[in-house]
Amino acid sequence: MNLQNKNILLIISGGIAAYKSLDMIRELKRSGAHVQTILTKAGAEFITPLSVSALSGDKCYIDLWDLTDETEMGHITLARKPDLIVIAPATANIMAKMAHGIADDLASTCLLATDKPIMIAPAMNPHMWNNPATQDNIQTLQKRGLSIIDPDHGEMACGETGQGRMAEFSKILNHIDQFFNNDKLLRGYKALVTAGPTYEPIDPVRFIGNRSSGKQGYAIAQSLSDAGADVTLISGPTHLPPPQGMNVVSIEMAKDMMQAVEQSIPTDIAVCAAAVADYGVQKHASKQKKKNGDLDIQLSDNPDILHTIATHKTRPQIVVGFAAETDNVIANARTKLQSKHCDLIIANAVGGDINPVFGSDNTSVTFITDNDEVSHDNISKSDVAQLLVSHIIRAMNVKAEDKVA
Ligand code: CTP
Repeated sequence: MNLQNKNILLIISGGIAAYKSLDMIRELKRSGAHVQTILTKAGAEFITPLSVSALSGDKCYIDLWDLTDETEMGHITLARKPDLIVIAPATANIMAKMAHGIADDLASTCLLATDKPIMIAPAMNPHMWNNPATQDNIQTLQKRGLSIIDPDHGEMACGETGQGRMAEFSKILNHIDQFFNNDKLLRGYKALVTAGPTYEPIDPVRFIGNRSSGKQGYAIAQSLSDAGADVTLISGPTHLPPPQGMNVVSIEMAKDMMQAVEQSIPTDIAVCAAAVADYGVQKHASKQKKKNGDLDIQLSDNPDILHTIATHKTRPQIVVGFAAETDNVIANARTKLQSKHCDLIIANAVGGDINPVFGSDNTSVTFITDNDEVSHDNISKSDVAQLLVSHIIRAMNVKAEDKVA
C-alpha cells in the first residue's frame, strides 16, 4: 500500500473499536500518509489523546472551542486539508448527526464544513445497526456519495451476536488503498448492470414477479461507478433510492429490460444481476380480471438478456451473470457459465432459512470461471460488489495484455 503524501483526517468516535484505530494510524503512517486526528469526547473515554498524537506525530484535536485552534479557524482548516476523511469507528450518533446536518462538536462541525470524500466504518450494537433510524441515516449518507464500510458479523463486546462489529482494520485499509490507488481504473469504460425483479403484468393490478430486492445489482452499479466507469443501471421495480452519478433506466417487464439493454450496447462491461422472469403473459388484460372460475393465462418465453448480450456481435469485454440456485448450486451455475457464454458466474444458494438472500444485506457466493472457483461466506453485498470490480479490473488487464501479445 502506497499512500505517500496523502493527507488523511481520521475521526475516532466513541466505541470499544477505537483501540483498533491506533493500529490503523500506525499502518497509515507506515504507508507514507500524513494523518491528522480528531477524537470525539466519547472516543476519549476509550483511548487517550496522548496515544493518538504519539502515533500520528501530530496534535490530536478534541475541542471545537480550543482557543489556539479556533483563532486559526481550526475546524475549517481540518475540513479543507485532507484528501480523504475516515471515520473509524463511527457511532450511530455521529452518523445521525451527519445525516441531519447537526454540528455541535469539533468532529460534526468539521464534517459539515468539508467538501472532501468521506469514508465511514460504523461500529455499534446489532440492534442499533438494524434500527430503521440508523438504516435510514445510512441510506441518506450513501445517497450523498459517502462510502460505508459495512460492519462485520460476530460476537460484540456487549455479549450479543450479530452485525455491528467494526470491519477489521485491514479491510478498512484496503478500502483506503483502493480509494487512492485503484479507484478510477475503470475511467473511460462503459458498464451496464441489470438489477431487481421484472414484473409481468396479468392485468392492470396483478403481475407475476419475484422476491429480488435489487440490492446486489445496485451495489455493483455503485462500485463500478466508484471505480470510474460510466454506468447504466437498468432496474426493475425496487424500493431502493436511485443511485447518484449514473444513468438509471427504470423498467417493469423483461422485454422492456431487453430493449433498454439493446439501447445501451455496445458496452465494455455487462453484469446481469436482475432476476428476470423466464415467462411473460402473452396478452395481458387491459381491465382487471374478475374471479370467474379457473384463471387461464397463456405464458410465453421471455428473452434471455444475459445470453443475448454474451453472444451479441458487439459482445462486451466482460460479461458476468448470476445463478441463484436452490440445489446443486455449483454444478448448475457451471452449466449456466457455459450455456450463457459468460466470463464469470456468481452463484448463490437461495431458498430456506439458511441463506435468505432476497432482501438481506449479506450473502454467500462462489465466483465461478472456466478454471477457477472461489467462495466467500456470509459477506455483505457491497463487499461482493467490491470483489467483483477487482475481478473485472484484473480480467480486463489480462485481456489488454493478451491483445498486446
Ligand atoms: N437472465 C437474463 N434473462 C433471463 C433470465 C436470466 O438475463 N430471461 C440472467 C440473470 O440476470 C442471471 C442469469 O441469467 O444473471 C441466470 O439467471 P437464472 O434465473 O438463475 O437462470 P435462468 O436462465 O432463468 O435458468 P433457470 O431458471 O432454469 O435456472
